[in-house]
Amino acid sequence: MRRIGKAWACALVVAALFAMGASAQAKWTIGMSQCNLGEPWRVQMNADIKGEADKHPEIKMVFKDAQNDTLIQRSHVEEFISAKVNLIIISPKEAQPLAEPVSKAMAAGIPVIVLDRDIIGENYTQFIGADNKKIGKAVGEWLVRKYGGKGATIVELMGLQTSTPGQDRHNGFIEAIRGSDLKVIFQADCKWLEPDARKEMESALARYKRIDVVYGHNDPSAHGAFLAAQSVGREKGMAFVGIDSLPHEGIAYVKQGILTATFQYPTGGDVAVVEALKVLGGQKVAKRIVLGSRIFTADNVAAGGEPLK
Ligand code: FRU
Repeated sequence: MRRIGKAWACALVVAALFAMGASAQAKWTIGMSQCNLGEPWRVQMNADIKGEADKHPEIKMVFKDAQNDTLIQRSHVEEFISAKVNLIIISPKEAQPLAEPVSKAMAAGIPVIVLDRDIIGENYTQFIGADNKKIGKAVGEWLVRKYGGKGATIVELMGLQTSTPGQDRHNGFIEAIRGSDLKVIFQADCKWLEPDARKEMESALARYKRIDVVYGHNDPSAHGAFLAAQSVGREKGMAFVGIDSLPHEGIAYVKQGILTATFQYPTGGDVAVVEALKVLGGQKVAKRIVLGSRIFTADNVAAGGEPLK
């Protein structure tokens, strides 16, 4: 009896070890090239990727942070190619310079999912991101509804203009306010960075006595502008609008009365992992996946905002 017990225990230990070994043995490696981790939104993107990847023991994630340097990001993609990863997810800093290494990966037979910022051309497996032109347009239309007929002067603190969201958020916005009595009086490329936005807003404040609205292409820019206006006692009566809507950033600013509105820009990190698994499993995937967006204002923030139509 004791002997049989021991044999069973042995068998169980062997089975357990085997199971552990099997689960520790990932079948596929996915390289994730992140353009920077200096902004909370990108930290959230990586967390969303990790959160989803952790549910799938068959994949192993390798993360690289290019620290907002395009050349470093190019070399990260090259490193993933040399390491023969099974798939690459990239959130590129700039559209043009990252297209070439992505093409190289594709030529080497490594599928690439481009996330959030687009690259020039279509030589990738799939693009995932929200529609930035639509979001920019929605910001413009919302402002026309709020100020139309009364007229308003606008400071536009743009995202990096060599990145597609910066271009699209600008173009959509300008299209929406065209023909209205809303006027952009000051524009600057703040490269998505709060300190740059704060500095540019200081210049705008020094130059213009009347500023009604600040349109920041992301919430950190709108927040930087708010701080600049506040430090000279001019923030009251000004509307600050941003994009991203992270719970502890844009949404918190709306709750605190700092931002008048924030438009959501989902990271798509979880979606990228789900799609990567389909690609790795040999399934055909859509060339583009367009993520939705929401608007959060003081009136709807408690109820979770409202979807953009
Ligand atoms: C973070 C960020 C976000 C913005 C996105 C655009 O790096 O600047 O704030 O929505 O990138 O790609």
